[in-house]
Amino acid sequence: MSSAHTVFPVPEEVGRLYDRLTALDTGTVGGSLHLGYWDAEDDGVPLVEAADRLTDMMTDRLHVDENHRVLDIGCGVGQPAMRIARRTGAHVTGISVSRGQVARATALADAAGLRDRVEFRYADAMRLPFEDNSFDAAIAIESIFHMPDREQVFREIRRVLRPGGRLVLTDFFERDPIPAGLRSAMDRCLRDFIMTLARPEDYVPMLSRAGLRFTELLDITEECVRRTFDRMSRSRRGEGGLRTAFDAAAGEKFGPADMIDVDEFGAVLLAAQKPV
Ligand SMILES: C[S@@+](CC[C@H](N)C(=O)[O-])C[C@H]1O[C@@H](n2cnc3c(N)ncnc32)[C@H](O)[C@@H]1O
Repeated sequence: MSSAHTVFPVPEEVGRLYDRLTALDTGTVGGSLHLGYWDAEDDGVPLVEAADRLTDMMTDRLHVDENHRVLDIGCGVGQPAMRIARRTGAHVTGISVSRGQVARATALADAAGLRDRVEFRYADAMRLPFEDNSFDAAIAIESIFHMPDREQVFREIRRVLRPGGRLVLTDFFERDPIPAGLRSAMDRCLRDFIMTLARPEDYVPMLSRAGLRFTELLDITEECVRRTFDRMSRSRRGEGGLRTAFDAAAGEKFGPADMIDVDEFGAVLLAAQKPV
């Protein structure tokens, strides 16, 4: 269940949003469309590397190698999928509801000589166009908050995973109720980015109803949200930080960088497994 926001994501609209972002994107985050991970405040690693670090932390939880097939749900322009394929040797299928992203990801994989190990398809996670038990693992990096029904996505993931197959994802969530004074700005931001926020207590019951066994829930707000938004807002103030396609799209509106002081806005890493 999602929090009581006014947003009901429609995959086609989300696809159009990402078509626009893909056209705007100058590759500032090295192709990854997700937060970075910094262990410590004074860790000076740039976002591109910190974003890859988050991908790697998640990939390590999949336990895959060259004999395995991985589904990347909400693949962006393919940087995480290509990194997973390079690091593990696994075959990775990335899906997105943005045709622009699928085309960009495919071109990047071609250029990288990785087309034998990665492929990208236009597909909606709510109705995965894959056979039962066809993947060894699934990953969803900052994509499920755009989907109309998290539990339905978990059901679909369970269906396409083989018994014992692992899922790891990151999501944004409402750590505590958003204060009344921030509610309308936050709602506007969620509407602009077509997102809903889950509540922390919802994850385990949702996974269990979908037939997946919960294995881990890690609050990564400090390491990811605070530290990425801090660097984004420094860039807005012209202090040589980072400007992302998201930031550009937010323009003068209340955007991700404004959430730096919103303690109630958090990120989680969630892991689960299909029972054997
Ligand atoms: C913030 S981007 C993250 C991209 C990528 N995981 C990364 O880390 O670079 C969100 C992604 O979710 C995808 N997405 C959103 N809703 C989707 C849906 N219903 N089915 C499949 N993909 C979806 C978007 O098209 C986009 O690729």
